[in-house]
This record gives sequence, structure tokens and C-alpha cells, in this order.
Amino acid sequence: MTEIVDVDPLDPLQDRLFREWVEVYAAAERALWGDQATPWSAEEIRELQRAPEKVRRALAAVEAGSVVGAVQVIGATRDNLESANCWLSVHPDHQRRGIGSALLAAAEDLARGLGRSVVQDWSVSPEESGGAATAFATRHGYAVAQRSLRSDLTLAHGRDDDAPVDPAYRVETVWDAMPESWLEDRAHLARRMSTDAPMGEIEHEEEDWDAERVRSYYARMTAMGRRFVVSVAREVASGHLVGFTELAVSASTPERAYQQDTLVLREHRGHGLGLAVKAANLRALREGLPGVTVVTTYNAASNEPMLRVNRALGFAVTGYVSEWKKRL
Ligand SMILES: CC(C)(COP(=O)(O)OP(=O)(O)OC[C@H]1O[C@@H](n2cnc3c(N)ncnc32)[C@H](O)[C@@H]1OP(=O)(O)O)[C@@H](O)C(=O)NCCC(=O)NCCS
Repeated sequence: MTEIVDVDPLDPLQDRLFREWVEVYAAAERALWGDQATPWSAEEIRELQRAPEKVRRALAAVEAGSVVGAVQVIGATRDNLESANCWLSVHPDHQRRGIGSALLAAAEDLARGLGRSVVQDWSVSPEESGGAATAFATRHGYAVAQRSLRSDLTLAHGRDDDAPVDPAYRVETVWDAMPESWLEDRAHLARRMSTDAPMGEIEHEEEDWDAERVRSYYARMTAMGRRFVVSVAREVASGHLVGFTELAVSASTPERAYQQDTLVLREHRGHGLGLAVKAANLRALREGLPGVTVVTTYNAASNEPMLRVNRALGFAVTGYVSEWKKRL
């Protein structure tokens, strides 16, 4: 008998249930990716649960006292109130027995209960066909909203030599915190980031960022046990930040950095700033955290300008992402 139960990551009495729930997701990741798996740690997921910008509800499928399936439904609370995201994993030893279908139905009910009319989800596979996740999502009425690519950079083979930057701009780099005087500009960049990257058919409206949200976003990264490095492009004449990129390293996978957002404001494109900030950030990463050997990034398959920059830096495609959408 499979039972579906709520999981509260912040309830100390549910610590064992929560850790088993995280382990199901990690086991599904490892089955797909082996030593190239990139699971979130229990500590990271727990910290994210505290963030007021998102409501997160977790469910576990339990059989004979063990967690065999895990799902989380995530809804933004300041913007994007119509949609929910969901991620779902079934333990590799228990797949193809209807557990994923039961969890997905429960997750869609949760999303409806949160007043959401669209569920969006993504799956990544080392196979171009998308593997089990594609068969599963299609079977349940999800359609591809966008295709993306996972790319990895082996730092021993990277090319991030110092290139001259247009003298109208200056590149600056900070570690693990953002100066107070940068927060307003960074909030503007985050608002633009939320709609400027290619979205395909994904439904996503502009996110509501201000200096306070940026401050708590970075404070949360530190609380999650992550180190991070941010490089920005500053327009010398106005003094404003017009581009940024960031890399984060999780305490649980100290050999791997994750590329987070990168943006150059539309009005400042065409000056080589995307490559300049990314190359500066990778150099800072090599110097600051020499134990990092690989960097993982995700980009829309249609985002040729970003993919070109990544290829120039030495990234190579390692996985295929399908972003799924279903209207409830
Ligand atoms: C995708 C996943 C959640 C499916 O969970 P599951 O419990 O095995 O799924 P179900 O048993 O409910 O499968 C329902 C239907 O999906 C399809 N399906 C699922 N796995 C499949 C596979 N490996 N090959 C082909 N079809 C598959 C089938 O149509 C299946 O119905 P059937 O068994 O009657 O033919 C699971 O494979 C998994 O955890 N994968 C790794 C994580 C992941 O990719 N999550 C993102 C999901 S969008």
C-alpha cells in the first residue's frame, strides 16, 4: 500500500522523513547522472523553505515505512501567482509502478489549492530523447514549453584569459556578499533578468525585486552554506551596473560550481560584456576556490548569444532539458 503524506522540512519531529525524502531525489539523480549528479542537499532545501518569496509544499510516497517517491510544489508569492512549479522523483528501485503518477496527481491538487492554474516543471537527461521523464510527462498531458541544454566546463580545459574591456565599462568582482550601494541596481537587473532570457512557451511575468529582496537572496545563499562570486559590468559614465553574472558553490559538492543568472541590459549589448563578466568571474573562482574542477550551467537551446559565450569559455553540452507546461 502506498500512502501519500505531507513533509515539513522545518519540523524537527519529521527529520527522518525529510532526510529520506531528500535521499529519494538524490538517488534518482545519481541513477541518471552517476558522479555527475547535482542534487540539492537537505540543508539547502531546508533553508529555502524559510524564504517568504515562495511557498513550498512537499509530499512523500511511503511504502512499508520507507519513502519511495518525493514531490515538491513551489509557488511564487510576490509575482507569478497563476503558476506553480513542481519537481518529482521516484526512487530508481520503485519506478514504473504508478508512484510517480499518484504523486503528480496529488501535486496538481496542491497547486489547484494554492489557486494556480498552470503547472511548470523541468526534466534533464543525458539522453537527447529525454528518457523516462519525457515519456512520463507526455503521458500526463504536459507539453514542451522550451528546450534547454546543460553544459559543463572542466576548469583544467577552460579559456578565460584577461581580454581588454571597452573603456566605457569597468568589471568588478565581489565574494559572498553584495555591497549595499549595489543593491538597487542589482534589483533592476533581477527584474529584467526575469523576462529577458528566452522563455519559449513558459509562462513567466516580471518578478517583483527590490533592494531588500536582493539582500535576503544573498543572505540566504550564505545560510544555505554556499560560497558565491559575482562579477558586474559598471558603466563608467553613469556609475550604474549594467550587467552581472554569478557562480555558486554548495558546501555539499565543493568540486562543482553552478552558474547562476547572467544578464547584460539590452541597451548595453554588443560590447563584449557578457564574455568579459563571465571570464572575470571564472578567473576569480579559480583563484578563490581552487578545489572547484567543474562548472555546470543551463541555457535555453535558442539562446545562441549565451551559448556562443559559453563555447568560447570551453563549456560543452552534457545534457538535454525539457521544460514542461500543463494548464490545470
Ligand atoms: C519520471 C518519474 C518521476 C516517473 O515515475 P514512475 O513512478 O516511474 O512513473 P509511473 O509508474 O507513474 O509511470 C506512468 C507512465 O509514465 C510513462 N513512463 C514512466 N517511466 C517510463 C519509462 N522509463 N519508459 C517509458 N515510459 C515511461 C509510462 O507511460 C507509464 O505508464 P505505464 O507504466 O502504464 O506504461 C521517474 O522516472 C523519475 O523519478 N525519474 C527521475 C526524476 C525525473 O526525471 N523527474 C522529472 C519528472 S517530469
